[in-house]
Amino acid sequence: MEVIIRSDADAASLLVARMVAKEIRANPSIVLGLATGQTMERVYALLVQMHKKEKLDFSLCRTFNLDEYVGLGTKDSGSYRFYMKHHLFDHVNIDPRNTHLPDGKSADLDKECERYEKVIERNGGIDLQLLGIGKAGHIGFNEPLSALRSRTRVKALSPTTLNQNAAMFGGSDKVPQRAITMGVGTILECRKCILLATGDSKANIIAKAVEGPITSMISATALQLHRKCTVVVDEEAASKLQATDYYRWIFDNEPEWQDYRT
Ligand code: GLP
Repeated sequence: MEVIIRSDADAASLLVARMVAKEIRANPSIVLGLATGQTMERVYALLVQMHKKEKLDFSLCRTFNLDEYVGLGTKDSGSYRFYMKHHLFDHVNIDPRNTHLPDGKSADLDKECERYEKVIERNGGIDLQLLGIGKAGHIGFNEPLSALRSRTRVKALSPTTLNQNAAMFGGSDKVPQRAITMGVGTILECRKCILLATGDSKANIIAKAVEGPITSMISATALQLHRKCTVVVDEEAASKLQATDYYRWIFDNEPEWQDYRT
């Protein structure tokens, strides 16, 4: 795991967008894993800008989202399909047939979860997975006690998550209680991943996820087992981390990050 600290949310989002763009340019038929949430909105806006101004080409990209609410359809404004169309898909040249999310309205949810895993596999697995982090430390909707080897399945949302997502639905009682989510095990199979967290409300959980012990109570700690995970944070989200001087030294000196220093 590597940690990159940028001055603010805009700088952190720009770094992530540049990392994603670089991967797309190196491999135009890349399989991207996508995340939702407010943090990602800036990244998608920047990718749209790069598509429009720098001809970043999504025509061959394939995408798989981490999760979708159970019971919400594609036209529902609370659904993650709606979010993705609104923030990214409708503004770039991606082929809608190459964009995948679990079907939250499936009549057989278990079968839908199995199908989703198989489609990921048929596409050769995820090359680059984007991740946000919930306030209780979830990745996707892998709530506390999600097995570290879990696969795509239905999860009941925790009270912390229901509260966190309440604003989007006009109250925590209106947030769907369940979601289909890639499992922690599914996520760990991606070739590379980038977790983005910004703002002081994420400082405590980032310190636990990055520097704390691995525990299924905080699914993001499982990323410590991943062979190529980059955590990008702003100063606020980094404020409870211990080894910040070391993280900064790596970013300022290691050749891998040279292109991103300017
Ligand atoms: C939802 C998503 C997560 C995401 C989280 C962060 O719960 N299922 O994948 O990480 O939101 O949200 P935000 O960026 O709004 O803090």
